[in-house]
Amino acid sequence: MTGPEGVEIVGVGTAVPDGVVTNTDLEKVMDTSDEWIRQRTGIEQRYRIKADQGESVKHLAKDAVIRALDAANMDAAELDLIVLSTMSSEMTCPPTACRLAAEIGTKNAGAFDLSAACCGFVFGLNTAYGLMQTGQYRNVALIGADTLTNIVEYSTKGRNGAILFGDAAGAVILRKTSDTGKGLIAQAMHSDGARWADLSIPQTKFDLPEGVEFDEWQLGKLYMNGQSVFKFAVGTFPRVIEQTLDRAGMTAGDVDHFICHQSNRRILEAARDRFGLAEEKFHINIDRFANTVAASIPLVLNDLVSARSVKPGQRVMFVGFGGGLTWGTSLWQL
Ligand code: COA
Repeated sequence: MTGPEGVEIVGVGTAVPDGVVTNTDLEKVMDTSDEWIRQRTGIEQRYRIKADQGESVKHLAKDAVIRALDAANMDAAELDLIVLSTMSSEMTCPPTACRLAAEIGTKNAGAFDLSAACCGFVFGLNTAYGLMQTGQYRNVALIGADTLTNIVEYSTKGRNGAILFGDAAGAVILRKTSDTGKGLIAQAMHSDGARWADLSIPQTKFDLPEGVEFDEWQLGKLYMNGQSVFKFAVGTFPRVIEQTLDRAGMTAGDVDHFICHQSNRRILEAARDRFGLAEEKFHINIDRFANTVAASIPLVLNDLVSARSVKPGQRVMFVGFGGGLTWGTSLWQL
């Protein structure tokens, strides 16, 4: 599926806020325990922005994209397009990507927010690649950034969200290359909107799922049917990997790294075991960051780049699933 020119990932950068919230910190404000959280999710800590001091998703996205540009040895003025995958936009208008573009100093590059919840980074990669194949965009910044700590309830009534989510940003710089072998090999993007209520942020009492008794605290806060999402993820994850391998005419052995949305260690381990993959091929870092929504995949990619585990010539499959419900993949030849 690579076009007349290839696309390469030339820089990766990430950012997390200074504030760390450990499981023990959560024990102080809700009925939970470090042991329960580790056992059920694999999470040990998460990062949290200081929203009351003006920190927002834009600050994290900015730090991440500046680091990715440095790694790519590229100036922001060379960017043609910025895609910010997020469900934490500062305002519904303007797109946060536009303010980000102005702050890093692009020269009127196209900029928009892409809303696909935890699939944001994967859908963003597929979108950016498609746009680059039109021939109109040579250098693109894709950022996955989210700050769900703003919209989870830090008390016992909201504990299933509070334990699970953290704040972060991760960015990649995509560049056109004359090497036609590099770029997207196969992809998949799916949704089942009938299951919207499993992960939602009700804004009015009419947005609450049927059967959920309305309570004022729920407005603007994350609602999650944890068990339903869990079952969905365990089933869907391997299926979409298989579908993408079929589309590419490959087997799991042909892929060097599976970089998956970090939702819950048990979900990830179930998928890893299903394909019999070694830990070095199927990466988990949820212990350090928790579920950071659109940022979780570039956080793993950054770990691998820093450890020099991911190399040119390798194949990497990015896998996402989440609110919508949505699920998808992006298989790349590096
Ligand atoms: N701390 C301590 N105990 C908790 C708890 C918490 N945070 N949450 C639930 N419990 C207790 C319950 O009260 C219940 O106790 P009981 O057996 O005595 O009644 C027990 O643990 C099981 O509760 P349940 O709601 O079934 O928990 P779970 O095993 O489904 O785990 C999640 C909850 C949220 C961790 C899990 O459902 C999950 O990770 N789902 C997927 C969510 C996800 O990935 N979302 C993002 C998708 S992108």
